[in-house]
Amino acid sequence: MSGVNEIRSTFLEYFARNGHEVVASGPLVPRNDPTLMFTNAGMVQFKNVFTGLEKLPYSTATTSQKCVRAGGKHNDLDNVGYTARHHTFFEMLGNFSFGDYFKENAIELAWKLVTKEFGLPEEKLLVTVYSEDEEAATFWKKIAGLPDQRIIRIGTSDNFWAMGDSGPCGPCSEIFYDHGEGIPGGPPGSPDEDGDRFIEIWNLVFMQYEQIAGGPRLDLPRPSIDTGMGLERIAAVLQGVHNNYDIDLFKALIHASEEATGVGSTPETVASHRIIADHLRASSFLIADGVLPSNEGRGYVLRRIMRRAMRHAHLLGSEEPLLYRLVGTLAHEMGQAYPELIRAQSLITETLRLEEARFRKTLARGLSLLDEATTSLEKGDNLDGETAFKLYDTYGFPYDLTEDALKARGIGVDRSGFETAMERQRAEARANWAGSGEAATEAVWFGLREKVGATEFLGYSAARTVASVVALVADGVEAAALKAGAEGCVIVNQTPFYGESGGQVGDTGEIRWSGGRFKVSDTQKKAGGLFVHYGVVEDGTLEVGAEVEMVVDAGRRGAISSNHSATHLLHEALREVLGTHVAQKGSLVTPERLRFDFSHTMPVTPEQIETIEALANGIILQDAPVSTRLMAVDDAISEGAMALFGEKYGDEVRVVSMGTAIEGEKAGKPYSVELCGGIHVGRTGEIGLVRVVQEGAVAAGVRRIEALTGATARRYLTDQEKRLKDIASALKVPVSDALDRVQALIEERRKLERDLAETRKKLAMGGSAGGDEIKDVGGVKFLGKVAEGISPKDLKGLVDEGKKQIGSGVVAMIGVAEDGKAGVVVGVTDDLKDRISAVDLVRAAAEALGGKGGGGRPDMAQAGGPDGSKAQAAIETIEKGLLAPAAV
Ligand code: ALA
Repeated sequence: MSGVNEIRSTFLEYFARNGHEVVASGPLVPRNDPTLMFTNAGMVQFKNVFTGLEKLPYSTATTSQKCVRAGGKHNDLDNVGYTARHHTFFEMLGNFSFGDYFKENAIELAWKLVTKEFGLPEEKLLVTVYSEDEEAATFWKKIAGLPDQRIIRIGTSDNFWAMGDSGPCGPCSEIFYDHGEGIPGGPPGSPDEDGDRFIEIWNLVFMQYEQIAGGPRLDLPRPSIDTGMGLERIAAVLQGVHNNYDIDLFKALIHASEEATGVGSTPETVASHRIIADHLRASSFLIADGVLPSNEGRGYVLRRIMRRAMRHAHLLGSEEPLLYRLVGTLAHEMGQAYPELIRAQSLITETLRLEEARFRKTLARGLSLLDEATTSLEKGDNLDGETAFKLYDTYGFPYDLTEDALKARGIGVDRSGFETAMERQRAEARANWAGSGEAATEAVWFGLREKVGATEFLGYSAARTVASVVALVADGVEAAALKAGAEGCVIVNQTPFYGESGGQVGDTGEIRWSGGRFKVSDTQKKAGGLFVHYGVVEDGTLEVGAEVEMVVDAGRRGAISSNHSATHLLHEALREVLGTHVAQKGSLVTPERLRFDFSHTMPVTPEQIETIEALANGIILQDAPVSTRLMAVDDAISEGAMALFGEKYGDEVRVVSMGTAIEGEKAGKPYSVELCGGIHVGRTGEIGLVRVVQEGAVAAGVRRIEALTGATARRYLTDQEKRLKDIASALKVPVSDALDRVQALIEERRKLERDLAETRKKLAMGGSAGGDEIKDVGGVKFLGKVAEGISPKDLKGLVDEGKKQIGSGVVAMIGVAEDGKAGVVVGVTDDLKDRISAVDLVRAAAEALGGKGGGGRPDMAQAGGPDGSKAQAAIETIEKGLLAPAAV
């Protein structure tokens, strides 16, 4: 009989032949429903299509949908491994009509598929219909020719399907397969229906209503069809086995588990192998869809699933981490139908290995504590809640793992005792943070973190999701609603908005709901995991409990991602060019530019900058995918990931790698590898271009570069080029000649300045050539002149010149600059310097010019003053000083 992969494709091809669009499975974390933890049925991705909110270009579709039923309302976790048909992860095959065909066609399509394509014997099949749905019974009779006793009417909710407390719903009709008299159990609706003989293989839902949460049931715009067939179940039927775990796919996974542990399947070990196989699937698919183990929300459900499997690996005697070694087999079996498994294979492997290594550190001690605590207990007793809490808190045993571990001995766990212990610990934590300084001012966030839990961040894979508003804050206190115009903070259960951290600024965007809009101007992370959206209500009223759409400003986010990825490339290029002493000292990533501070003592030369830019742009041109993995900090660092000194990392870190090194010892290896929680481009090519625009010092031993990427870098270069062209056109030469022309002009200007100074000197001295300006002042020859446009440094030369001319006497020169300030130099010939002090004279002149001081030697002194208009008066002051030297 055909294998799982063929059954899946037979189903999809059959509906494709019948005009259905084959649509890929939606993600396990629903993007369109904030109330659902995981996708639990094929119709989830079409929820808004059924209600008429969303339109698709086709009206019928078929899928094979990944589903997880663990955590939340549908929780099959406890049963998995011990029954024939429970799974945490399964595939649901389905066909859908969005207001296209209805009941009759749906029944006809289904009947033909099971009897003709799959070739199931008609006499082995029977169906149920909702007791009020006479129409469905009539169609079954007409189409399948089933006798009345094989069309069973059921009045309970079993035959009325609803996705959850709200959403599309309707009566349904189920097809059952009779495994034969050899197996105990009665037909549906009979007292022993829970037996294993009659197995439901397909559920056809006649979608007619939309259930409003806590309210009425509305008619859908157009009646529709939603069906669900568990692939594992139909495979069991078609492969002639009774237990889902005996189908080809599970056999391969269980075989891998047997090989890896060296333990075959026996009645004692088979449940463990089944649990490992099932949980391996759920964990791997969840990780591939972006869920990572954590202590809250979806991440915690994943951790519970993983740890449950890991305990069973331990039970089988596996000395080393086991699960990660089975990922290859899973990818081989299912990777073709779900390429995301292959894409994420290294992330899955790494995450499983790390979690198992960590859990193993406490597992054995936890189990021996459990043994001690239960030695005196008997079947029907309960383990006390305190011990269960200690196992949880100290040894990392999720509550249900403890339950599972005691199940075989018939021992239960005191759940309420466990919860009391948990609450006591929370209260202690509250008391601690309430007392500390910074925490106290931020108390509202800690209180909310406690009350509503951490926000689930979906932004690595999405820029838009739906969410439920879990809290609102206005003026630092919780609020039930925010009205139009109000500023405040919004907290939701899950968000695609990045909260500022690691130098990357927070996202902005919009929160939308029917009838309103909140503009998000910033997003910050508070109290370790609460994402706070700051902004203002632009329209309508936002209330706690509302279902909203979170829309990140994607253009801005794109620019931020480019700048962040470019920062990593520049960091590596700086190390390559300047040396490995270069370490990050700070970084700021905004949509406009990136800033990167690093340790380095000397200025980076323009040539070095050019090389750094060329290296970074080389990786951009590789258009290499940017990969992210989750690793243990120590492993990441020993693999060469750049970590920030002094930064606090959790036990696990995100490792971002990009590009391939071309040269050097790293040739062929990833070019840049860094620990980073930020948002990056998908491929380096998206950065487009990186351009360093600034280099300088910020502190001793710390340099800073600033750079632009993408469109901003291009605009910058365009501006620069335009400036250059303007310069060339002002010089009236082509751009290529502009530099020569400017250099020639500078040279010309220097020469002209020299000539001008010469000419001015000549002009200044010109009048004294005949000696007619030389006065006799009290028997001393005196030459005093005011020269416009002579700089102070030229005055000295002129005074020397004057001293030579008069042979014996005093020379005073005042130069008045263009700004009106004056310089004064006084010279006294050697024969007089014992009697007359140039310093005294120049000081008197400075005072006359509105200045003070002055200095030099008795034969030559200089000073200055702000008021050049007093130059003539200053000359006269010197003359007076000569007449009465003592008075000066
Ligand atoms: N949505 C229906 C189910 O999950 C088909 O059974």
